[in-house]
Amino acid sequence: MKAKARFLLILFLVSGSVSCDRSREEQGDQGEPVTRAEAERASVIGAAAAKSLMESLGGQLKAALAEGGPVSAIRVCQQIAMPLTGAAGNSIEGISVRRVTLKPRNPANQPDAADSAVLAAMQAQAKPEVEIRRVDATIRYYHPLPVQEVCLTCHGDPATFPQELASVLTELYPDDAATGYQAGELRGAIRVDIATP
Ligand code: HEC
Repeated sequence: MKAKARFLLILFLVSGSVSCDRSREEQGDQGEPVTRAEAERASVIGAAAAKSLMESLGGQLKAALAEGGPVSAIRVCQQIAMPLTGAAGNSIEGISVRRVTLKPRNPANQPDAADSAVLAAMQAQAKPEVEIRRVDATIRYYHPLPVQEVCLTCHGDPATFPQELASVLTELYPDDAATGYQAGELRGAIRVDIATP
């Protein structure tokens, strides 16, 4: 977050004004800022849920890569990514977890207007930070997912993919948009939806 934006956010939080009419008009369906109390609660819950998903999915992905290489790891990922994402939301009542991206591989991970606005904001940051927004009665916690070296195996330049890897991707994801990334770019975000009490 740029220094000025951060200052304005702090000013906004300190002033305690929540979703006044002006911010509603300006933000539209792109999500609204939250109060400090809401942000604090969402940070704790969101971070726990995001960590749990990163550990479970990341662990399985690494194990699958080590065991069977990228082609079999893609099949494993296709089977387990959605169930593990759902399961990350089951441990805490009143939350649900999903993954969103501007360039989806799995069409289920398509962003809505608020997601797209947050992802675009993260992309503009040198080092993306957690974003928290209100959309209707739900607080959304967004944890950025940067591309690491290991991700390039399946999300990098398709020209470098072995033939078998390219074929299995086309077979499973005919509309795959999630290639062509470079290390350090934003791949997407984990979104934790938290119901307001
Ligand atoms: C073995 C191949 C493979 C590797 C390595 C890999 N992914 Fe993926 N990724 C997939 C597949 C397959 C999907 C689609 C299935 C799903 O997750 O729903 C996917 C989907 C995703 C999604 C969900 C959004 C979408 O496009 O559908 C995110 C976010 C993501 N990957 C991030 C990463 C990150 C970050 C890394 C590195 C830490 C990584 N991936 C490494 C294969 C891989």
